[in-house]
Amino acid sequence: MSSILVTRKLPSSVLAKLHAAADVDLYTGDAAIPTDDLRARVADKDALVCLVADSIDRTVIDAAPALKVIANVAVGCNNIDVPYATSRGIAVTNTPPDVLTESVADFTWALILAVTRRLAEGERLVRRGEWKGWALDFMLGSELRGKQLGLVGAGRIGRAVAARAPAFGMRVACSSRRERVGVELHASPLEAMSLDRLLLTSDVVSLHVPLTPETRHLIDRRALTRMKRSAYLINTARGPVVDEAALAWALQQHLLAGAALDVYENEPVVHPDLLRLENVLLVPHLASGTTETRTAMADLAVENVLAVLEGRPPLTPVRG
Ligand code: GLV
Repeated sequence: MSSILVTRKLPSSVLAKLHAAADVDLYTGDAAIPTDDLRARVADKDALVCLVADSIDRTVIDAAPALKVIANVAVGCNNIDVPYATSRGIAVTNTPPDVLTESVADFTWALILAVTRRLAEGERLVRRGEWKGWALDFMLGSELRGKQLGLVGAGRIGRAVAARAPAFGMRVACSSRRERVGVELHASPLEAMSLDRLLLTSDVVSLHVPLTPETRHLIDRRALTRMKRSAYLINTARGPVVDEAALAWALQQHLLAGAALDVYENEPVVHPDLLRLENVLLVPHLASGTTETRTAMADLAVENVLAVLEGRPPLTPVRG
């Protein structure tokens, strides 16, 4: 029987499928598996099911001579040395956006609404017992109607975020690596523009690019100084797309009105300067976090493992 290491608990219906087909070694800790444990436990395995929090580098791959497949329960695979795994003949699979597009797009709007209407700030104030009652000019937020949503990246998730914009009266612009000019979305065309122009003209800038060497610190000090002082930055993509120290500086200087982050440069650590600021909303990497979506993601990872172990092509391979 094949043997599989699973680095975190999966929904029981999904785990049952694995148990029926293989010997499963399940790590049951509630934080990421320590790398030494990972190396030791993967050594005799045929398959690995892992999460974005697990770093699958060369040392892990070298520790597992029999490994045939690494199935990441995530769309982004920046946690895996994909070229190296591929060079060793190991299949790498992900859970492409189709599975999580809608939940991430909904969550992006939750962040846009929450940060522009100061929900977290208001909630903290109520809990501290500091609310003195309704006042006309108290804790005013910013309206979305008539404003521009600037999407950095117009892949499936970016376009699903754009599709929701008409409900809030926003027009949408995008800067995409693929330079898709005039992508049609329902009635509203996405206006394609350079990143510089997008930063200069948008009222809300939302990031939807994968983490690559080109997108690392795409939003740095220079980019942040391009943004309107009244604008908001939203990141549900990958933490290192934003230079967190530069963002904390820009927020302290009020170079932008606020930011909402779901992802961080060094998860689960958050830059200490951000923790001290009121005008940034900080949530713990929850964008795809619905029971339905996470179950579908885990199920797809398991189907990928079973396919490879049964000698079939993986369903959703990642190219190295
Ligand atoms: C989550 O962050 C994912 O990449 O699916």
